[in-house]
Formats: sequence, structure tokens, C-alpha cells
Amino acid sequence: MNSLEELILKRIKTNGPITFSSFMSSVLYDENFGYYSGKTNNHPLGIYGDYYTSPLVHPAFASLLAINIYHLWKAINEPVEFTIVEIGAGNGYLYREIISFYKKNIPSFLSVITYYPVDVFSDKSKDIYHIKEVPKGITGCIISNELIDAFPVNRFIFKDKKIKEIYVDYDYKNNTFIDKINHVSEPEIASRVSPFTKNFDDGYQGEVNLGIGYWADIISSIINSGFVITIDYGYERDELYSSKNNRGSLRSYFQHSLSSNHYSNIGRQDITSHVDFTTVNHSLAVNGFDKLFYITQKKFLEYLGLEFFIRELNQSYKNNEISNNSFNKQIYAINLLVDKNGLGNFHVSIHSKNISKDQKNIVKNQHITYDKSMIYLEQDSDLIYPDLRNSAISFGDENKETQTWKDIFEIK
Ligand SMILES: C[S@@+](CC[C@H](N)C(=O)[O-])C[C@H]1O[C@@H](n2cnc3c(N)ncnc32)[C@H](O)[C@@H]1O
Repeated sequence: MNSLEELILKRIKTNGPITFSSFMSSVLYDENFGYYSGKTNNHPLGIYGDYYTSPLVHPAFASLLAINIYHLWKAINEPVEFTIVEIGAGNGYLYREIISFYKKNIPSFLSVITYYPVDVFSDKSKDIYHIKEVPKGITGCIISNELIDAFPVNRFIFKDKKIKEIYVDYDYKNNTFIDKINHVSEPEIASRVSPFTKNFDDGYQGEVNLGIGYWADIISSIINSGFVITIDYGYERDELYSSKNNRGSLRSYFQHSLSSNHYSNIGRQDITSHVDFTTVNHSLAVNGFDKLFYITQKKFLEYLGLEFFIRELNQSYKNNEISNNSFNKQIYAINLLVDKNGLGNFHVSIHSKNISKDQKNIVKNQHITYDKSMIYLEQDSDLIYPDLRNSAISFGDENKETQTWKDIFEIK
């Protein structure tokens, strides 16, 4: 039994079974032994880790997000100060890529922005802040990629026509943590899912993410006016709690493999669940945010100009500027970002706060333009495809092709 397991067992011995959310908080975020604490030998991200996220797949992701943020700033009359807060910044990879993109392509924007990469454990050696260090009342943009799917969740089961909760207990005979069913610990767990119980057979299981409400309250206290861009794997509630998801969406990952046992490799494996975007929207709405978009990552990146990257990549290959090997790997990586069965099926929601109706319309009708001065980023190590780091290629079209949110998403 490792130290983290001992700690959790001690709590169960003292207080009885604990909620899955409490268990997940410890296994992911215990200060000393948690998966994300940075004090263990885990390498959560990248080719040697347990999973990879979009920023690590290809530089196009960070570049396009940087372009999006820049255009949001333009839509609100280019305020002289614009603060970007990235919550769940991990090791700061996306932060460094976005800053590096602006340095190369829009250096004037660097004097306007202040960027706070935030995570649970601040780490000044990597410029990572704690949320308490971020100033309040900012004008700017709050972004996150795969943050909410890492929030601890409560688990429920539909049994005998009632919503019950799955707690974590300990089986002393077999020396293992086990599920224990009892009444819900919070009424909100049952109220979130009760409209969908008509879809549930006996034994249906799922998760409720109560942390989303706290997240919305906190970001609301930080941002006075601007935007929230939320990128994550998830759905609207009716899809999340549909009959096809009858085993829930809780997933554990250990060294790029899906692990069916959430109680194995404690503190060494990641645990995630799909995000309830209806709750994201409701929680932001009660805090005065308006939803501008809710779209797939595939559509989001395509709108922002992914095709220009691909076109330029093709051109560079034809001009013998990149090797066949690099070309193939980059095309493969870009396709991963928009793969309908993977990252492309993630959702992106964009909300605004204290933005005028005209400014919202500008965002919706904005033309994203490209020219040859826009350059790909060079990458650091820790990539899925380390060859990509040599990819300093321009993208764009001298004819400055344009598209709008309305064109792409057929917004009425
Ligand atoms: C799945 S990782 C994603 C990392 C990074 N955004 C990426 O896309 O590669 C989730 C990150 O969110 C962080 N996180 C979870 N809850 C958080 C919170 N309440 N505040 C700040 N960061 C949080 C975790 O510590 C972890 O670094």
C-alpha cells in the first residue's frame, strides 16, 4: 500500500465511505502524492506520459487559439490592457506557444497582454501562478483546455427507480478500494440527472461535476469584461445522460492505455470524465455571461484557418522545404486535432461578459484573414512527433481569403 492509499484508507476508517469526488481530489491533487502534484514521478503529458492534449499534438492548435484571442480583442475596440488567464495550464506548454506565436507574428500585441498561466500548484520556475495571485476585475479572456474534465466528480447509479450515489469504501478481506452505494451526499446530484431518468435502465451509472459551479463563480470574480473560451471533451446534458452512456464517462488512463479499474495505480493514473456543457453554460449564465458559440473543435479550428496551414504545408513540401517524413507526420498530427472520433469531437464554448450587442455581432461576423507573415511555431521537446519542432513554415494566402463565424456555423 502506498502513502496515498494509506491516507485515503485512514479517512475511510475515521469517517466511513467517502464520495468519489473526495477520492478523486486526493488521487489527482493531494499536495504530496497526487497525480498532478508534480512531486511524484508521473509524466502526465506527452509521448512518455499517460495521455496527450491538443497543444502537444501540433503547433497549429496554439497558433489558431492565439489568432482567436487576438480577434476577440479587436472586436472589443482593442483595449490598451488585455489579460489572458489560462486555468489548468499544466506545465505551461500552451502558454509558451501562444506567447511565442505573438512574438513572431503580432509583436505589438505583447505590449497589450498580460498572460497568467494558472494551475492548482503554482510553480514560479515555469511561470505558473495560483488563481489567488490573478488580479480581479480584468478585461480580457479566460481560457482552458481539458481543465473541467479533470475536476473531481461524484458518481451516481440509478437503482430501484432512485438516484443513489457510488461512494468509495475499503474491502479489508481483499485489500482493495471498492464501490459502496448509498443515498446522495448532495441533493444537486439527483436534481441534475432526474430529468433524464426516463432514459435510464436499472443500474445506469454516470457522474455529476459539482466543481463547474465554483469554477464559474471564480472566473466571474476575476473577469469584469471579456470572454471565456472553454475547450473540453463533453456534451450537452441530454447527450451526456442518454441511454448510450449507461456506464458513465469516467475514464482512467495509465501510460496511454485506458484502465477499467479506477482503484488501481492510485496516484499514478489519470482520471477524467466528460464535461456537462449544459452546466458550464448555466453556471456562466447565472454569473452574467452570454453564450456566443458552442461548436466542435474540428469546426473551431477549421473556421480559424486550419486549411491554410495544410495548404502551406503542401506548398512547402512541393518546394522541398520539408522532408517527406516531416510532411507526413505533420499532416497526421493536424488530422488528429480534427479527428471526429477524437480531439475533433471536443467542444469549444465561447462566452462573453459585459460586451455590447454590437461587439457580439462583430465577433460573430468577424473575418479571419491570413497572410504570409504568419509563421508556424517551432516546438520544444516532449511532443508526440518530435520532428515537428523543425516546422517553421509560413501559412496564409496572398489573396487574403476570409470567412466568418456565420459562414462556417450557419448561424442564423
Ligand atoms: C488534463 S490536464 C490539461 C493540461 C493542459 N491544459 C493541456 O491541455 O495540456 C488538467 C490540468 O488542470 C489542472 N487543474 C485541475 N483543477 C484545477 C483548478 N481548480 N485550478 C487550476 N488548475 C486545475 C490540473 O492540475 C492539470 O494540470
